[in-house]
Amino acid sequence: MIGIGPGGVEQVTVEAVAAMRAVDWFLVLDKGAAERGGAPDPLVEVRAAVLEHHVGPEAVVVRVDDPPRERRTELVGDDADYRAAVAAWHQARTERIVGALTQHPGDVGFLVWGDPAFYDSTLRVLDVVADVLHDSGEPAQVDVVPGISALQLLAARHRIVLHEVGRPLQITTGRALRAALEAGQDNLVVMLNRDLEELASPGLAEWSIWWGGNLGTATEELVAGRVGDVLAQVRAARERARAEAGWVMDVYLLRSPSDAARERRR
Ligand SMILES: C[S@@+](CC[C@H](N)C(=O)[O-])C[C@H]1O[C@@H](n2cnc3c(N)ncnc32)[C@H](O)[C@@H]1O
Repeated sequence: MIGIGPGGVEQVTVEAVAAMRAVDWFLVLDKGAAERGGAPDPLVEVRAAVLEHHVGPEAVVVRVDDPPRERRTELVGDDADYRAAVAAWHQARTERIVGALTQHPGDVGFLVWGDPAFYDSTLRVLDVVADVLHDSGEPAQVDVVPGISALQLLAARHRIVLHEVGRPLQITTGRALRAALEAGQDNLVVMLNRDLEELASPGLAEWSIWWGGNLGTATEELVAGRVGDVLAQVRAARERARAEAGWVMDVYLLRSPSDAARERRR
């Protein structure tokens, strides 16, 4: 598994480049069939660009259709349904990966978005794949090469430290943001945002936000300020990135006024 950074060819580490050049072929899961009605998956195109830049045309890529994943809110609304949907998707992915591995010998590279440590299922799936292969008498080893995460690039682009001196940082998802706020978290990085509706809550108007969309790519967008002042700007930047790139991924740091005041007093 090779962390390739959050989308731009410049955010790939030297270690990742060496790993890309060392493997025999790459397995890339393609969401085109499952989620885009057969239209090209732009994230596959980004991976192709990373390979073209760092390995060259000799990179051997095997595309495997990513199985469809249940995302309808009415079916995955509660946590148990959500986890069940993800487990079913992982199982389907496992089967397709095992199928591809048995057809293609040699060391295979999986290009993991950002860093494999944050909100990425590849390691979990590959551990199961390795168990399946082991049981069928073909042991496989999974190695991990780290990458630059979107949250690191967010901090670098805004020239910030993600937490105040000696203070904690919560990393969560858009889906879990409300629960984190209710639990009293006051300094959070939020990833996997289906939308930004939660930010419109009046209780967050005075909070500070540092937001980044499509970081590291040609369509990168940055906005920072008081949530109540800049939310419209964030929404517009998000739509601009989506329109220009054909996809949008965004991440933000959200900090409460009390946490920020503590920092100013230091
Ligand atoms: C499936 S998670 C994977 C995160 C990845 N493993 C990492 O370390 O960045 C995808 C989420 O990461 C964030 N993300 C990834 N790439 C990004 C980018 N280029 N710009 C902004 N956010 C990004 C977004 O929150 C997105 O929904």
